[in-house]
Amino acid sequence: MTITNYDIQPLFATPYFRADVGHAISKEQVEFIKNLKMVRNKNNFISEDLYIFEQPELKSVAAVIQESLDLYATKVLGISQKLYVTQSWSLVNNPNVGMHPHAHSNSFVSGSLYYDELPEPASRIIFDRNVMYQRIEINPEAGKANLYNTRTNIITPRSKEVLLFPSDFNHAVEPNASTEPRRAIAFNCFIKGKFGDYRDVSELNI
Ligand SMILES: [Fe+2]
Repeated sequence: MTITNYDIQPLFATPYFRADVGHAISKEQVEFIKNLKMVRNKNNFISEDLYIFEQPELKSVAAVIQESLDLYATKVLGISQKLYVTQSWSLVNNPNVGMHPHAHSNSFVSGSLYYDELPEPASRIIFDRNVMYQRIEINPEAGKANLYNTRTNIITPRSKEVLLFPSDFNHAVEPNASTEPRRAIAFNCFIKGKFGDYRDVSELNI
């Protein structure tokens, strides 16, 4: 007997969201972000201010990020509760500097905003599907990777776009292979609203 008729379908999937938001970022705002005071953060530089979207100069940027979070909530999560930005910070990776694998604690959705031109070649973001230690690693053979078996998936960011992804997924940024600094904003988000049900004693108002 030979099976000739079979079907393979995904049970679940991990989303990422991307949108061009260049229309909401002015040249003055790009300069404002570039001029934020930066401090050393292991190998790269991070803004001293870790709530930069609360700066009045970045009001339109914060608004377009909120718009993207609203889309993520309705189109991806299918909920009417609100995602909102908690901390937001700017990052500079100088040539040869990347970012080690990490996830974002106390956050539901995280994002990156590539507010400036990205130097070429653009450092890519490498996502790892494993959120926990793997006792046995079963990896596909060369040329056999697909969405079901791949351990990593890679996104090449584009200038002026926002990327949103689940905060618990480990991700790393490739070393900057260009001769120019690579600039980005990162942010975390949490969720607020009413969840659960009063009579089920599962109600939560946050
Ligand atoms: Fe990150």
